[in-house]
Amino acid sequence: MNSFSQNSISSYAELVAGHTTVSILILDANQRLCFLNPAAEILLGTSAQKAAGMRMSEIVDIRCDLAKGMQRISETNYPYTEREVELRLFSGESSVVDCSLIPLTEHDEDNHVLVEIQRVDEQLRLINEDRLINQTRASADLLRGLAHEIKNPLGGLRGAAQLLEGELEDESLREYTEVIIGEADRLQTLLDRMLGPSRPPRLEETNIHEVLERVRTLVTAEAGESSLQIKQDYDPSIPTIMADPDLLIQALLNIVKNAAQTLNNSGEIQLRTRILRQVTIGHKHHRLVCSLEVQDNGPGVSEELQKTIFLPMVTGRAEGTGLGLSIAQSIIHRQGGVIECNSRPGKTIFTLLIPLEE
Ligand SMILES: Nc1ncnc2c1ncn2[C@@H]1O[C@H](COP(=O)(O)OP(=O)(O)O)[C@@H](O)[C@H]1O
Ligand SMILES: [Mg+2]
Repeated sequence: MNSFSQNSISSYAELVAGHTTVSILILDANQRLCFLNPAAEILLGTSAQKAAGMRMSEIVDIRCDLAKGMQRISETNYPYTEREVELRLFSGESSVVDCSLIPLTEHDEDNHVLVEIQRVDEQLRLINEDRLINQTRASADLLRGLAHEIKNPLGGLRGAAQLLEGELEDESLREYTEVIIGEADRLQTLLDRMLGPSRPPRLEETNIHEVLERVRTLVTAEAGESSLQIKQDYDPSIPTIMADPDLLIQALLNIVKNAAQTLNNSGEIQLRTRILRQVTIGHKHHRLVCSLEVQDNGPGVSEELQKTIFLPMVTGRAEGTGLGLSIAQSIIHRQGGVIECNSRPGKTIFTLLIPLEE
């Protein structure tokens, strides 16, 4: 440090404030903005000049108790941090941030406060996704092993019941063997669904919009005369992908059917396709990713259920099996992608991210 003159320290400070990706703001004791660095200008969508003298609440809706934080730091003189708070811009965009208030009192009698805001949505997305991928894979493996173990003796049971049926002289006893055979078949169907698609994927050049249109037709036909609406918002520039169209249809059908069920066949589903650039999926970086969104305006998925929704046998419906989403997730995993769920009442989005370049 000794080699820096006072002058160059301040120019380094300016350089740091100008180039850091952390948003830095200075507020006066009345929460009026005195300073914004360029990262803060970008985050808040305003210029330092325009914002000067305005209150924070006039530019942004941040779900962090600024007044409480200011009070706290003026009492303790220690920094105050709130993590993962929602920040909503008046443009409607929202993101998740960590927000720290740092007292500047040592240098300043007017009780100015330094505010640091750092976006954490991408980090959170990656952490969640990692958890999701590991969780789904582990439980799918477990379930697959279990299903295999049950399948073999089940076949034996069914076969024996059939032989027994042939030997029965008393017709009235057939009722019982029929129960055994019928229930064994029901279990067999359930196990086959638990095991997921039985054949290896057949990859071919697949037009993602043809897949979506097929799903739309199927679900519309099933909804019949109801007032369910399925709208399309497609990006026609998306190239074909190497995929198994039948498996993609199955995955999407499971998701769109869930939406139709939750809407009780009256509401709106939107199918949206986009190209995303520079996306990380499960530690792997992709230059181009195709995003397929299925959005519905139903009641949404509770926060509790959202954590486990992709696990097999997790269902919110009395007659559900809880297999639809776990099968969809494993189909998309095999494709190198992932399915994410984002939900609040009135707006639930399932996003399928599929790498484009592989
Ligand atoms: N679009 C949605 N809106 C609200 N809840 C949903 C939606 N999609 C799925 N769910 C919830 O997730 C649960 C699991 O779905 P799924 O794996 O397909 O199994 P199942 O449909 O057999 O219950 C559903 O029971 C439902 O509670
Ligand atoms: Mg389902």
